[in-house]
Amino acid sequence: MRRLIFLGCMVILAACRQAPVLPTGVVADNAMVVSARVEASRIGVAIMKKGGNAFDAMVATEMALAVAYPFAGNLGGGGFMVYRKASGDIGGLDYREKAPLTAHADMYLDSLGNVIPDMSTVGATAVGVPGTVAGIIEVHQKYGSLPLNEILQPVIDLANKGVVVTEKQAKRLESYKERFIAVNGDSTKFAREFKAGDTIKYPELATTLTKIMDQGRDGFYKGEVAQKIAAFIQENGGFITEKDLEKYEAVWRYPVVFTYKDLKIISMSPPSSGGVTMNQIFKMMEPYDIGSFGHNSEKAIQLFTEAARRAYADRNYFLGDPDFVDIPLDVILTQEYLTQRMEGFSFDGATPSSDVSHGQVEVLESMETTHYSIVDAKGNAISATTTLNGGYGSKLYHPELGIFFNNEMDDFSAKPGVPNMFGLIGAEANSIAPEKRMLSSMTPTIVEKEGELWLVVGTPGGSTIITAVAQTILNSYEFNMSMQQAVNAPRFHHQWLPDVLMFEEEGFSGELKENLKTKGYQIMEGRSRIIGKVDAIKILPDGRLEGGADKRGDDTAVGY
Ligand code: GLY
Repeated sequence: MRRLIFLGCMVILAACRQAPVLPTGVVADNAMVVSARVEASRIGVAIMKKGGNAFDAMVATEMALAVAYPFAGNLGGGGFMVYRKASGDIGGLDYREKAPLTAHADMYLDSLGNVIPDMSTVGATAVGVPGTVAGIIEVHQKYGSLPLNEILQPVIDLANKGVVVTEKQAKRLESYKERFIAVNGDSTKFAREFKAGDTIKYPELATTLTKIMDQGRDGFYKGEVAQKIAAFIQENGGFITEKDLEKYEAVWRYPVVFTYKDLKIISMSPPSSGGVTMNQIFKMMEPYDIGSFGHNSEKAIQLFTEAARRAYADRNYFLGDPDFVDIPLDVILTQEYLTQRMEGFSFDGATPSSDVSHGQVEVLESMETTHYSIVDAKGNAISATTTLNGGYGSKLYHPELGIFFNNEMDDFSAKPGVPNMFGLIGAEANSIAPEKRMLSSMTPTIVEKEGELWLVVGTPGGSTIITAVAQTILNSYEFNMSMQQAVNAPRFHHQWLPDVLMFEEEGFSGELKENLKTKGYQIMEGRSRIIGKVDAIKILPDGRLEGGADKRGDDTAVGY
């Protein structure tokens, strides 16, 4: 009888998970953009309304974020994009920054071999060769349908008209002000105080964008703009030359593709670690029925944490730029290998990270990146994550060009075994070399369910990106949440080292944390933080689109 009751409960639970959930986010009939700022989402949608496709909308949204969200949106940084066309064709674009030609493994070390503080994080010495402009032009040339001027003119108009400062942005600008002044002096526009409701105009950026509109990538990587960038970075002690800029190319890379139950998950391949690490996490969890454990239950957290612990250990050891290092994907992504990795796992207690191999390296990256998701009226989907690395990157700002420059060189391991400013301790695979791309955690992802487009998802959050994206997919699939609920749900994170389990402030009870402590988990206490800011789109059973715009930021879904 007990067995019958148990089986009955399992059937009811399974049925609950299958019942279609009602949307709670913005719903649109045709097309949608979800991004960190309403201005960028609106511009992307406007491009699609006038006949542009998702690729055109990507170009517009990426550039509009550089105007409306200079904290992470950029011309002076880089990113990754994964697409799935309505035909089912998939692909990925790597427009990650590169090390300059004069870079070398020891460039951030002093004569005693110690890491020089701030050199890879602040100012011109931290800047990698920017990839964003090459990325959008490559996308436009290959898949765009509208002329570039029709796509970029609304962005240029926005830069000239200006962007209204939000409460959150005012706080951010205030908290970064002293750092802007330390790097740029007190004459740039970011040296003043801003309050919510102020308008910031960007005529200098509008002029740079006009050059790109008129000349394509040459408007940035050659001629006047390139000369000004190279001279400015070198005057400030950095390494980028005109030759570095001229040589920069975005690279098309086939995504990492794997199945999880009846989902097909398509995510970014190296030099991003996102797809590989998420593939490992999902495949280690797949043999368990996590959906029956309950959302954010003790068992679900344990299973996810143990899979993440093992996957991040591999991430930090094996992954780097595939053009420079051999990554044994044919081994570390096999079910046999991943089953072996989980052999020591038990719900009775934590596996100490010191017992998981490759225990000499650690990763923790910056939180300041941005993600946007797009679906057009034909069903083409774009998932793109872009970054300057730190908030406003290196803080170095070119006042005449209106550009912030990245501090992405810090995503390399400056010295294997020594942490960077975010606690990252890298391995040899991610050491610095001329023209090499630094390892990333950005995880732009697209999910198919039963062969159809189902989710478009991604987030900022440094090393927490991978777990935040994975949990959003689990929330939607295993815990039957609407897109907006899945995005808003409280998140947790473990990344092998440091061996601590982080929780967002809300949504996890004291009792749950105590139980986990009893089982040997070290809980990060006393630090309130958010984990990721997910922007996602779900295709509903009737074909409409539901946006999930993260409540943690100013993120907004716009559709029509
Ligand atoms: N800079 C953050 C990342 O690429 O993951």
